[in-house]
Amino acid sequence: MAVSLNTRITELLGCKYPIIQTAMGWVADPQLVAGTCNAGGFGFLAGATIPPEEMERDILRVKALTDQPFGVNFHMYQPNAAHIVELVVEHGIRAVSYSRSPGPEFVKKLKDAGVVCMPTIGLPKHAVKAIAMGADAVTVQGGEGGGHTGAIPTSLLLPGVVDAVKGEIPVLGAGGFKDGRGLVAALAYGAEGIAMGTRFLLTTDSPVPLETKQRYLDCGNPAEIVVSKAMDGLPQRMILNKMLLELEKAGPMKQLVIAVKNGLAFRKFTGASIFGLLKSAIAMQKEGDVTPAQSIMAANAPMIIQKAMVDGHPDEGVLPSGQVAGVIDRLPSCAELIEEIVAEAEERLRVLATRVN
Ligand SMILES: Cc1cc2nc3c(=O)[nH]c(=O)nc-3n(C[C@H](O)[C@H](O)[C@H](O)COP(=O)(O)O)c2cc1C
Repeated sequence: MAVSLNTRITELLGCKYPIIQTAMGWVADPQLVAGTCNAGGFGFLAGATIPPEEMERDILRVKALTDQPFGVNFHMYQPNAAHIVELVVEHGIRAVSYSRSPGPEFVKKLKDAGVVCMPTIGLPKHAVKAIAMGADAVTVQGGEGGGHTGAIPTSLLLPGVVDAVKGEIPVLGAGGFKDGRGLVAALAYGAEGIAMGTRFLLTTDSPVPLETKQRYLDCGNPAEIVVSKAMDGLPQRMILNKMLLELEKAGPMKQLVIAVKNGLAFRKFTGASIFGLLKSAIAMQKEGDVTPAQSIMAANAPMIIQKAMVDGHPDEGVLPSGQVAGVIDRLPSCAELIEEIVAEAEERLRVLATRVN
């Protein structure tokens, strides 16, 4: 029996399978993106943590490693957001993803150039707003997902968002996916594919040092991967390690000291001016109920994450992670992972089809 995994997402993004590798700061580098795309999935480069002067070089690196289309993720508050939009248009990048929509002038520029705009959202009403702001597809992240996340699990959120968008644009499910059964479940909910972060972090193609990957693999319990606001004032899902416990215990004064120290390091790294750093912090503070220390932390959280993700010290940095890490115990390559997901999804669909008659 022939099984097809083609959906509106594969058509929109020009990939073979509806399996998306999401952007992850410090993790989604050219090798991971190309590894995903060469295996038939679609990868997003993590533009928020790439130094501005290396952004174009990384885009070109992906192009050197794959002839397949790929995407770029960025954060509207990062100082070089306008430059990233320019590079995306100039290099004919297929898609962009973001969690807060860039201004209408940026969206227009991207859409005029034929770039697929794919925000990540966490509530049905955000999906409706995203459509009004020009989204071509949305990724819905349920609470079990890694990094910044909401409180509603994928199993409840995804069907709610599918209903809310009424078929206008395709929806991708994210948060807690790792295999072919998950892909079929997402399709059953009405999504047109899955987007995964943590599962791709735990591949041999991801650049994360082995010590840190091992810390993720050792975490054999999804309940130890918790949501905390201690990092930047916004709910973020991370492995409960030494650094996170320290941040949770720190009072506002100590948090401010940690924030300023890391903020200065990040400024040096990205070349952002003090004015630029403060501007992003103030903009973030206006958006939500966060303290000055937390908004500075938000602007420089990538620096704390870097200690684990780049330097290989899993206890000195924080470890953003989906709960799914608690049930992952090996590191396949992207090609092996995608092949397994597709084979399992096709098998499950065949089994389900026997129930139709
Ligand atoms: C280590 C890590 C870093 C992340 N960094 C980003 C980021 O820079 N930008 C972003 O939009 N999402 C980020 N996320 C969220 C992912 O893109 C994705 O939505 C999430 O991991 C999906 O849930 P899953 O981990 O259960 O697959 C990150 C997630 C992880 C695990």
